[in-house]
Amino acid sequence: MKLLGNMNTRNGKLYINDFSMEYLRDKYKTPLYIVDETDFLDRCKEFTENFRSEVFDTEVLYASKALLNIYVAKLIKEMNMSIDVVSGGELYTVLKAGFPKDKIYFHGNNKTIEELEFALDEQIGYLVIDNEQEFANLKMLLQERDTVQKVLLRVNPGIEAHTHEYIKTSKNDSKFGESIFDKRTPALVAEISAFEKLDFRGFHAHIGSQIFDEDSFFKSAAVMMDFTQSVGKELGIKIPELNLGGGYGIYYTRTDKNFNIGRFLRKYIDYLETYNERHKIGLEKLMIEPGRSLIANSGSTLYTVGGVKQTYGKKNYIFIDGGMADNIRPALYQAEYEACLTNKMDEPIAGKYTVAGKCCESGDILIKDIRLPKPEPGDLLLVSSTGAYNYSMSSNYNRIGRPAMVFLSDKDKLAVRRQTYEDIIRDDVCE
Ligand code: LLP
Repeated sequence: MKLLGNMNTRNGKLYINDFSMEYLRDKYKTPLYIVDETDFLDRCKEFTENFRSEVFDTEVLYASKALLNIYVAKLIKEMNMSIDVVSGGELYTVLKAGFPKDKIYFHGNNKTIEELEFALDEQIGYLVIDNEQEFANLKMLLQERDTVQKVLLRVNPGIEAHTHEYIKTSKNDSKFGESIFDKRTPALVAEISAFEKLDFRGFHAHIGSQIFDEDSFFKSAAVMMDFTQSVGKELGIKIPELNLGGGYGIYYTRTDKNFNIGRFLRKYIDYLETYNERHKIGLEKLMIEPGRSLIANSGSTLYTVGGVKQTYGKKNYIFIDGGMADNIRPALYQAEYEACLTNKMDEPIAGKYTVAGKCCESGDILIKDIRLPKPEPGDLLLVSSTGAYNYSMSSNYNRIGRPAMVFLSDKDKLAVRRQTYEDIIRDDVCE
């Protein structure tokens, strides 16, 4: 397993930010979501320091769907970043964390009337309109309000990104946004900008997730800038802002390419400044909204090994005390992860093992055929790069309680407590 962030080894044991896994197990139990807070904040800085321009105002929005709780929202606030939410629940969480309202962006292809009302009442920074119906709903809701709401329109630039089918978002038939090729889109913009209670600021596009091909980002930026210009000209309006979404690829295993985010962002800014100037696009503000590339590598999940089993067919299983309930990604996307036995960092590889979870489902396999030292019950197994879309996509399948989450800097801070059996039945109506 590649050591990421502030991981290191001493006397054959793994440490994260100088905390031993035994200490964390004894204090918090397993399975345990661990976030290397120092590393996470370093990544936030890498984004804000490199996505910066003399020409444009720039904003880095954290795509909170990757991992959100009150503690994360507070960290993002301290880093002076903005945040994107996609549901009433995410909005509620960031508001409870005291996040500055003007730095909240609300996305989503089917925000309910209640969610739109919630956002309008709280007077958050931006609503990102997805489609005509949402515009109609907003018009209706704003009729009885005296506020002006800043909006972006999500559009689909039709860029093919090389990533898993389920996390592509921008093909012509995607459910998200209106196509830039659709003749009705400029007409919708005309209506939005003519409506006096909406302040139309520009477009938003997000082409997918876990993308390594830098060209896809440059292409999408060029297409979006051209579109901004042509709609602005056609309608005779000023379109000053552009949100280019997130999607930057990260390291999960050795098969993933390297994506140097700092270098990419400097090139990106350079490209955007030059294009804006050369083609007289007239943009004043640019936003990006990374999720995975901010948090995934800072997160790990710690498990205790229970059984170790060799099947009649000679397959070696390591059973852990978590699985698909805390990490659905291998089952859902064939996602691959690295892992190590944290108490056997210096021991020789003994063979190939399949790491299986405890859910009643054959598909509950976290890692296939990983090379590890000889596992024994009681060993600690750590899966790396689980910071994004693990906790946020976790479930109570088999009525397994969600793990706790701890943030490590010079101190260990419990951010989410472990669910108890009482939590499991809390919503059941007993009468
Ligand atoms: N902006 C929008 C509008 C998005 O839909 C997303 C992700 C992001 C930003 C952040 O993308 P990121 O930088 O994290 O790639 N559950 C899947 C990923 C779904 C991504 C959904 N949208 C997974 O586990 O891989």
